[in-house]
Amino acid sequence: MFPINRPRRLRQTTQLRRMVRENTVTTSDLIYPLFAVPGEGIAKEVKSMPGVYQLSVDKIVAEAKEVYDLGIPSIILFGIPDNKDVEATGAWHDCGIVQKAATAVKEAVPELVIIADTCLCEYTSHGHCGYLEVGDLSGRVLNDPTLELLKKTAVSQAKAGADIIAPSGMMDGFVQAIRTGLDEAGFQDTPILSYAAKYASAYYGPFRDAAESPPQFGDRSTYQMDPANSQEALKEIELDIAEGADMLMIKPALAYMDIIWRVKEATNLPVAAYNVSGEYSMVKAAALNGWIDEQKVVMETLTGFKRSGADLILTYHAKDAARWLQD
Ligand code: PBG
Ligand code: ZN
Repeated sequence: MFPINRPRRLRQTTQLRRMVRENTVTTSDLIYPLFAVPGEGIAKEVKSMPGVYQLSVDKIVAEAKEVYDLGIPSIILFGIPDNKDVEATGAWHDCGIVQKAATAVKEAVPELVIIADTCLCEYTSHGHCGYLEVGDLSGRVLNDPTLELLKKTAVSQAKAGADIIAPSGMMDGFVQAIRTGLDEAGFQDTPILSYAAKYASAYYGPFRDAAESPPQFGDRSTYQMDPANSQEALKEIELDIAEGADMLMIKPALAYMDIIWRVKEATNLPVAAYNVSGEYSMVKAAALNGWIDEQKVVMETLTGFKRSGADLILTYHAKDAARWLQD
């Protein structure tokens, strides 16, 4: 009790505070998302995400080198294809845009860990994350036919050079289907980072500009989780672990820190938090207006994810954070 106990004793100097600091963000924790588009020499800024670009493969390679030189160990690749169709051909074709980008990056920066986002929404004409009955405008994605397409996509991404497969469509059984597909194709050692608890969130808005992937009708609430639920997240996690997930992702991050914490407590697998597009855009908008100190706000947020139990953080701030950590 006071006056014997005075917690301020340990807050008196910078060095003392450093000594008792419980959590720190390091560059090793960061994963940087990149958007690949067809063409050459293209770097098109995403309107709702200042500082984030759609990049052609040549530019992706340059960016990957920069990321690696900053000490960031990993990137996650998304693709915007030339053509979209009901079968999501661009997702699983061996000449798909993510496949091309993965191969080029692997050749140029072999040590950089390439994560492939494995989903269909960027490649389907309707923008949903799976296969729909032709003519069905309800947005009720057919689960099991989608698994076959995801399996093909994952194998093709692994063949192209992806080191980690990250299925993000919230289909039931997708980890098992992809694990089986990878194993049959000889990729027993390719880990799966499952978007295990992914919520139907309005914070994905700017990403859908970046990836040109908004659903053309309906929404994703028949497959992504209800933001009101947390028990259900634990169920999703348990199933994905049983199906063979090597790492688990929670998404979004900021409004779901309780979920990050509960998942970390419930498993001993590495946990990743996705600091999503809307979270990024809000910080950027406030920073560009001079309303907040961007560096301090970003580092405080990233530290918060670590404190919540995240081992890894996918974030559009990764390059800036790596630079700030160097100084
Ligand atoms: C695709 C996917 C999305 C994001 C990652 N993978 C969008 C969505 O589900 O609509 C969102 C990432 C972000 O907002 O930064 N399944
Ligand atoms: Zn999707």
